[in-house]
Amino acid sequence: MSKSLNLFVPAIGGTVLLLGLAYGISSREYGAATIDSLEARVQQIEANAAQATAEAQAAAAEAARLLQEREELAALAAVSGASLTAPAPVIEGTYGLGRVAFDEEIAAWDVDVLPDGRGLPEGRGDVFTGEEVFVDKCASCHGDFAEGVGNWPVLAGGFDTLANRDPVKTVGSYWPYLSTAWDYINRSMPFGEAGTLTPDETYAIVAYLLYSNNMVDDDFELSHENFTEVEMYNADGFVVDDRPELEYAEWRTEPCMENCKESVEITMRATFLDVTPDEDVEAAVSAPATEATPAVAVAEDAGGIDPALIAAGEGAFRQCQTCHQVGEGARNRTGPVLNGVIGQAIGSVGGFRYSGVFEQANAAGEVWTAESLAAFLTDPRGTMSGTKMAFRGVGDEAEVAALIAYLQSFAD
Ligand code: HEC
Ligand code: HEC
Repeated sequence: MSKSLNLFVPAIGGTVLLLGLAYGISSREYGAATIDSLEARVQQIEANAAQATAEAQAAAAEAARLLQEREELAALAAVSGASLTAPAPVIEGTYGLGRVAFDEEIAAWDVDVLPDGRGLPEGRGDVFTGEEVFVDKCASCHGDFAEGVGNWPVLAGGFDTLANRDPVKTVGSYWPYLSTAWDYINRSMPFGEAGTLTPDETYAIVAYLLYSNNMVDDDFELSHENFTEVEMYNADGFVVDDRPELEYAEWRTEPCMENCKESVEITMRATFLDVTPDEDVEAAVSAPATEATPAVAVAEDAGGIDPALIAAGEGAFRQCQTCHQVGEGARNRTGPVLNGVIGQAIGSVGGFRYSGVFEQANAAGEVWTAESLAAFLTDPRGTMSGTKMAFRGVGDEAEVAALIAYLQSFAD
């Protein structure tokens, strides 16, 4: 029996002895007062004894429960081949902490689903049900049609955009395995309530996502049986990384240390390159299309400038855009606004702080002509020694001409 119960047995025995003593004293005719007080004490002792008994019973019940638990654990250990009393396995080189996990414990964690369908639980769900669950649990962030709300991820569409500057990577356009969708959703969505979806709900949601990506019809039902039959759009879009075998061997060769360059010139500084552009610069870079529209319109007004040249200049102007803005609403950034720059006094854009050499040119009344600008753009630091424009210059004459045509198309 349990040790905790044994502890209480002498306590009860002691109480009984005291009771016997109390009655013995009363039979030898002590004074009534003494007897009264003794009776009170007897009552007190009886109450204590009752409490001790109750406590003993509770302890016995607790002991029985622990015993039961121990037997259950032992049975579990027997099934998995471990022993509870055996010392923890001492693994060489570690601290010998912990124990080998039970199969049941591993099973509870082992929820991943592999591309070949391994790990999928049995279940099924159709597009229709999926839509209902999706609208209920996912649409607040991902949109009714998986199109994404605000900045939350888009889950549908974006096909054939992967080679673009801003690819739209979705479950449909990008993910090579359907199992990733099942697994990811099952483990981590809805965001903040991960782990609440039933297998059937997850099947239905994944079916609905396939439908939102135009990959299945509206009567489609996804289950553990047909799961691996679904072909993903970008299944062949990934290649095995073979760099360790192919490229690494090349890198391991001795670096060539002959005929090295004599001097190293810094051609650009990270601050000017806008490695981490501020919001406005980003907006300027990502919205060239809106600026292009007035460009062409103005060009027609300006008359005589070859639209093809302007268009070429627009392309070339990308390298200037990190620092300069043109067109309506243009603002000074790292460099000044360039609207109407040709024919304008050098260094005269309001609110921009020019370098000393620009201030001098301004004070001397110098004006930008197509010629002087061409010279400046070809070799900024050569023509304006000390300029703040940290730009190596444009090597190609035709490109310079195109840039000038493009700038000319922006009248003031
Ligand atoms: C409270 C907003 C919210 C809700 C609701 C929500 N998600 Fe998401 N979901 C997110 C966020 C945020 C991410 C990006 C998480 C990350 O990148 O770590 C995400 C990512 C995803 C992705 C991966 C997108 C990708 O291309 O990387 C999928 C698929 C997805 N959620 C599906 C679901 C489904 C299905 C549900 C409903 C069961 C759901 N989400 C509910 C916010 C939400
Ligand atoms: C790294 C930033 C940067 C880049 C890239 C850059 N510029 Fe500049 N640019 C400047 C700065 C700064 C000035 C002011 C120079 C000074 O004060 O010395 C300037 C001045 C100018 C000016 C004279 C403006 C005036 O008001 O006098 C012109 C014209 C100009 N840049 C055109 C261009 C063109 C065209 C390109 C692309 C081919 C280009 N810049 C690329 C930063 C840049």
